[in-house]
Amino acid sequence: MAGERILVVDDDRGLLTLMRTRLEAAGYRTTLAESGEQALTSAQSEIYGLAVLDLKMEGMDGISLMEELLRIQPYLPVIIVTAYGSIATAVEATKKGAYDFLTKPFDAKDLLYRIKKALELGKLKEEVDRLRTLVKERFHFDNIVATSDKMQHVLRQVTQIAPTDSTVCLSGESGTGKELIAKAIHTSSTRAGGPFVPINCGAIPEGLLESELFGHMKGAFTGAHQSKKGLLHQAEGGTLFLDEIAELPLALQVKLLRLFQENEFYPLGSVKPVKVNIRYIVATNQDLWLATTEGRFREDLYYRVHVIPIVLPPLRERRDDIPLLVNYFLQKYQRGRDKHIQAITPEAMQCLMLHNWPGNVRELANVIERAVAFAAGGSITPDHLLLAKDESTQADSGLQSLNKAREEFERTYLTQLLSATRGNISRAAELAGRYRSELYKLLRKHSIDPASFKETPRRLCTPSTPQTPPPATFRYGKQS
Ligand SMILES: Nc1ncnc2c1ncn2[C@@H]1O[C@H](COP(=O)(O)OP(=O)(O)OP(=O)(O)O)[C@@H](O)[C@H]1O
Ligand SMILES: [Mg+2]
Repeated sequence: MAGERILVVDDDRGLLTLMRTRLEAAGYRTTLAESGEQALTSAQSEIYGLAVLDLKMEGMDGISLMEELLRIQPYLPVIIVTAYGSIATAVEATKKGAYDFLTKPFDAKDLLYRIKKALELGKLKEEVDRLRTLVKERFHFDNIVATSDKMQHVLRQVTQIAPTDSTVCLSGESGTGKELIAKAIHTSSTRAGGPFVPINCGAIPEGLLESELFGHMKGAFTGAHQSKKGLLHQAEGGTLFLDEIAELPLALQVKLLRLFQENEFYPLGSVKPVKVNIRYIVATNQDLWLATTEGRFREDLYYRVHVIPIVLPPLRERRDDIPLLVNYFLQKYQRGRDKHIQAITPEAMQCLMLHNWPGNVRELANVIERAVAFAAGGSITPDHLLLAKDESTQADSGLQSLNKAREEFERTYLTQLLSATRGNISRAAELAGRYRSELYKLLRKHSIDPASFKETPRRLCTPSTPQTPPPATFRYGKQS
């Protein structure tokens, strides 16, 4: 770390000159001062890598000077020098922040060695502190990408409310990460060792929901041949995540209210209540208050669940998260596959930044998963993205019907899917998340013959001007 500026303060002018010669010969730059006051003046306008201060000086002594200097430059390593070695002073100096202590007369080699060590430590300390404040100020969860101010605010709330046992109400559009946040709340709460039980109130048929939740006794209804424990039982000691709470039928809302109030419930067909110890997190992509005013959601239940509201912003309102999310999903969807896509072209990134993301993070994840499947290697171009046209931003005159747009999209999608899989239907079905029979049906509808993709795999992205060099790329992560 030669080249660093070292401040030397001593009221012995002869020693100052000697120190300058030694230090400059070793490649350091020096600032000399004969008093603490003089040193403080120059410290207003210079940055030092290290300071060597004489302990006993007229006026301000070495330790007071050190304290003043540390106020201006908190990471400055300080070596205190004294003619009278005393353990007590050494201890005091170190307690107040000195890195090292030297007794006169000292040998030049020793001084240089200690300076080198102190400089190294100073840098390290600064880095550790920088990282520490980073951790302190930025909220971080391993599987959540959140750099935008809006998401940082959400994570701050999560950190604050996780340890409480209060009911949390997550709201936000579909795909904004409500379930992800619910899990983060659970894993950072005192119930982390207990179960996290999610239930989608909108996905279970109304007739089954009650017995799924509360369980039933043998003979409670036709077909109940055996007693069965419900999800509430499973969630004992942990967290129950009630997704799409607004979809809950009114009859069940009453029972839930009782559960929230009394922490007990009756399994179907039972007259004995069961006590539970559960934390509740509910989620909705609707305006729950509107549902209440429209009579679809009970007002008393609204106040029971709306204890700690957390709102997840849509992706279009936090576009600064997009590049990091893209990188995150690029890594995620390549894991375990023989793909080496490290980059996305600036054009593709621009498309992603401009897209309106009606499906939020889930849509972005799907787009990247597909792009990884389609891109043969190298980088992802706009052709790999297959972004659904954003109907809201299209000029009225150029608007085509939704059905036509869907047909077109389907056709392009199928062609690219078969190109990527070279006509392998099983693989294509797996990628598309459809049964093979469904895929065959779609292919027939569009008169696409999978066999024609078997031999010569088509290029997905044919450059319009083959002479032009490949576009520059944003690079992420490690280069392969
Ligand atoms: N900030 C994020 N960082 C990383 N992955 C995310 C983030 N937000 C969402 N995801 C991922 O996007 C997908 C959708 O998230 P999630 O299921 O939590 O959304 P949701 O709000 O519950 O959606 P829905 O209302 O449709 O149920 C999941 O795969 C989730 O892991
Ligand atoms: Mg969800």
